[in-house]
Amino acid sequence: MKNKKKTEVLFGYNIGVINAPQKIIEKDYNATWMHRYNEPISEGTLTSLWSLSVAIFSIGGMLSSFCVGFVSEWLGRRKAMLINNLLAFIGGTLMGMSKLCRSFEMMILGRFIIGAYCGLASGLTPMYVGEIAPTSLRGALGTLHQLAIVTGILLAQILGLESLLGSDELWPVLMGFTIMPTVLQMSLLPFCPESPRFLYIIRCQEHHAKSGLRRLTGRQDVGDMLAEMKEEKRRMDMERKVSIPELFRSSLYRQPIIISILLQLSQQLSGINAIFYYSTSIFTKAGVQSPVYATVGAGVVNCAFTVVSLFLVERMGRRTLHMLGLAGMCICAIIMTIALALLETVPSMSYISMLAIFGFVAFFEIGPGPIPWFFCSRVVLSRSEAGCHGYGRLLQLDRELHHRHVLPICSCEYCRNLYQNRDFFTFNKSLFDIFRLQDLCGPYVFLIFAALLLFFLIFTFFRVPETQGKTFDQIAANFHHNLGGTMDMDLDMDLDKPSTELDYLGDDSN
Ligand code: GLC
Repeated sequence: MKNKKKTEVLFGYNIGVINAPQKIIEKDYNATWMHRYNEPISEGTLTSLWSLSVAIFSIGGMLSSFCVGFVSEWLGRRKAMLINNLLAFIGGTLMGMSKLCRSFEMMILGRFIIGAYCGLASGLTPMYVGEIAPTSLRGALGTLHQLAIVTGILLAQILGLESLLGSDELWPVLMGFTIMPTVLQMSLLPFCPESPRFLYIIRCQEHHAKSGLRRLTGRQDVGDMLAEMKEEKRRMDMERKVSIPELFRSSLYRQPIIISILLQLSQQLSGINAIFYYSTSIFTKAGVQSPVYATVGAGVVNCAFTVVSLFLVERMGRRTLHMLGLAGMCICAIIMTIALALLETVPSMSYISMLAIFGFVAFFEIGPGPIPWFFCSRVVLSRSEAGCHGYGRLLQLDRELHHRHVLPICSCEYCRNLYQNRDFFTFNKSLFDIFRLQDLCGPYVFLIFAALLLFFLIFTFFRVPETQGKTFDQIAANFHHNLGGTMDMDLDMDLDKPSTELDYLGDDSN
């Protein structure tokens, strides 16, 4: 279980790590260029090289995320995780050695490979944890998902300070540091048992599944758990497979899928990663005196509000929180733009832009940060091509007020892409990086994100149902009821009527 959190911390680490030392690494890119071509690198080429170094991480993650389902079934969960560590090892080594070898190509390739590692790891590890964790711990582990990512970002920001590892000489160590946890995982994983659920359901190895369960629980009698898995396998064998194109064609499935995708997009197109990749240079442009410390400040705000949101999500509706977050981010983006535009005439605007960035991050963690996970993790499809084993119903949306289940319920490739692989939707980084929007639009770059945020706000208002406090049946019925039409949240159902599947679903929703 510690592995899972470590993987997410590594994911966050690699998001945050190239932010603070940007200028220092760029200096080395320039030195390499000088060494090769006897002339300084042009500004445009340098920006392109740096943008590629940043964005290629997402491309690696996106590509590898499609392989999670296949790799986990072919090798098994444990072996797949073990072998995946090789990618982190290779990626970290390439990045760590790039200065010594005077090669920015090594850095770029290393970022691609570490991205591929993160894409696979963020699918494989929660799958394994979800399968071996005792029911009572699943919800708690899921809740820590975003917290682990933001901790990784903050760790990278702190280690990236010039006085620590973000210096001319030590930045390769900062990049290579990512190897450390993988070495640990590689030495510990062989002692962990393979997932009994995988052994029984996928490989049909009852005997091995039983001994795995015994090792995990420390109990001799694991009959009840085996019976549960048998029941799950029976259901899976009975369900009809639905292909992915069919999912999009059928009006029954279309609406929740579109909502899930748009919610994920609202997270990734919000502009948050433009901040986490580029805040140091944004703060510098905004005239902030200690941009690197301001970046750490943004990381602290990010962590603090992730914790705040854990409490808020229990008290306020998910839809309300998401809209609040989007609206707040939109306003902060506009304030940031105005402050940056006025900077030359009003120097104190640098404080306003710094506060606006902090506000932007805080509002992200109130809504678009955590809420899409809550929502999408509830969307379980009946059965997809890649082996999605839903529970016989289209939707499993937030069925109880207090359940904060953020682990995936289904391990098929499709659900995983929806739930796990945010890289799949990480277009904002690419927008920001590859098209060098900041250079093209100057201070107005955040207006693009403001417009996108407004669009997602309007979409959420009209199309996204409130799921808090509603049972699975109520929400599913609501979707059926509103097929093709605007969401009508007045449910004409018996609110107290228990669901026949609720008890079963309860196993996963703690
Ligand atoms: C979420 C997003 C990730 C972002 C992070 C910031 O985990 O998926 O892209 O970097 O939040 O806290």
